[in-house]
Amino acid sequence: MANISTRFFGLDLKSPVIAASSSMTGHAEQVIKLAEAGAGAIVLKSIFEEEIFSELQEELSLRTGMNSDPEYLDYFDYVIKEETLRKYLHLISDTKARTTVPIVASINCVSSSDWTLFARKIEEAGADALELNMFVTPSDASKTSENHEQFYLETIQKVLAVVKIPVTVKISHYFSNLSGMVQKLATTGIAGITIFNRFYSPDVDIQSESVTVADVLSTSHDYLLPLKWTGILSGQIKIDLSATSGIHSAETALKFLLSGATSVQVASVLYHEGPSAITKMNKGISDWMDQKGYKTIADFQGSLSQAATSAQAWERTQFMKYFGEKAY
Ligand SMILES: Cc1cc2nc3c(=O)[nH]c(=O)nc-3n(C[C@H](O)[C@H](O)[C@H](O)COP(=O)(O)O)c2cc1C
Repeated sequence: MANISTRFFGLDLKSPVIAASSSMTGHAEQVIKLAEAGAGAIVLKSIFEEEIFSELQEELSLRTGMNSDPEYLDYFDYVIKEETLRKYLHLISDTKARTTVPIVASINCVSSSDWTLFARKIEEAGADALELNMFVTPSDASKTSENHEQFYLETIQKVLAVVKIPVTVKISHYFSNLSGMVQKLATTGIAGITIFNRFYSPDVDIQSESVTVADVLSTSHDYLLPLKWTGILSGQIKIDLSATSGIHSAETALKFLLSGATSVQVASVLYHEGPSAITKMNKGISDWMDQKGYKTIADFQGSLSQAATSAQAWERTQFMKYFGEKAY
C-alpha cells in the first residue's frame, strides 16, 4: 500500500489532507474525530486578533513601549486568565493531550501590533505550529501595495521573534505582484504558505435590493484559482506550499499534489460529509498511487508544476484559441 505521508508546517504528516481552520476545528470533540478520520494535521479555528487585543487593549495602551518589560509579561499572564484567550489555550492543550496528530493554532491578523505576545502563549500551550491567517482588504486607495505588504512582513517578523515552533501564513490572492510577494514571504523564515483563504463574500438580493452574504461553503468547482497558482508558485519557492479552497475529493487533492503542493486543507467538504470525507480522500489518494505504481508522494509531487514542465498552460489566461477553434 502506498505511503501517503508528507510534510507541511515544517512537520511530518501522516496524510496530505489537513483539516483546515473552521468552526469544525473549534471544539475538542470534533478535533479528535477529525484526527481519528485520518487528518494529517488539524488547524484549529482562528482566534481573532481583535479578540486578543480587546482583552489586552487597556493595559497595552498604558504600557506602550514596555513589551519586553517582565512586569508587562506578568500582566499578560494575568489577563489571559480571561475567557476567550484562556479557552483557546485550553483547546490546544486538551487536543494535544488526546491525539498525536499535529495540532496547529491559528491567529487571524489584521495588524502587526502587540497581540503577537499571545503567540508565545500558544507555543507554551503545546501547539505544534502556528498558522497566521492574514488579510487586509486592499480597498483603501490612499495606501500603497508596499504599505499592505509591510503589514505581512512586520507581523511575521514579530511572531518569529517570540516563538520557536514553525510558523506558516495563509494568504489571499489579493496582491498586485503575487509571485513577488510570495517570494518575499518565503524568505522571512516561515515554514510554509497556504493559498488561498476563502472569505465571506458579499452578494446582492435583487428582490429585497439589499447586500447579503454569499454561500459560505465552497463548491467542488472552486479549486481552479489556487490550482493555477500552486502550479506557478510551487517551483519558485523553497518552502512548502499547502492549498485550500474547493478541494472536495481525492481527485482534486491529487491535482494539487501533482502541481507542487505538499498538502491540502479542507473545510467545506467536512461540513457536507463529516470527518469521513478525510478517510475517503486518504483512500482515494492511496488507491490512485497504487494504480500508478507510486510508492511515496515525493514520487510524483510537483511533477506537473510549471517549474517541472515549463508548461505555458499555467500562465495562459485569454480564451483566444478556444474561441478561434470553436468558432463561437
Ligand atoms: C465556516 C467556515 C469558517 C472558517 N473559519 C476560518 C478561520 O477561522 N480561519 C481560517 O484561516 N480560515 C477559516 N475558514 C477558511 C477555511 O479554513 C478554508 O481555507 C476555506 O474554507 C477554503 O476551503 P474549502 O473550500 O474546503 O472550504 C473558514 C471556512 C468556513 C467555511
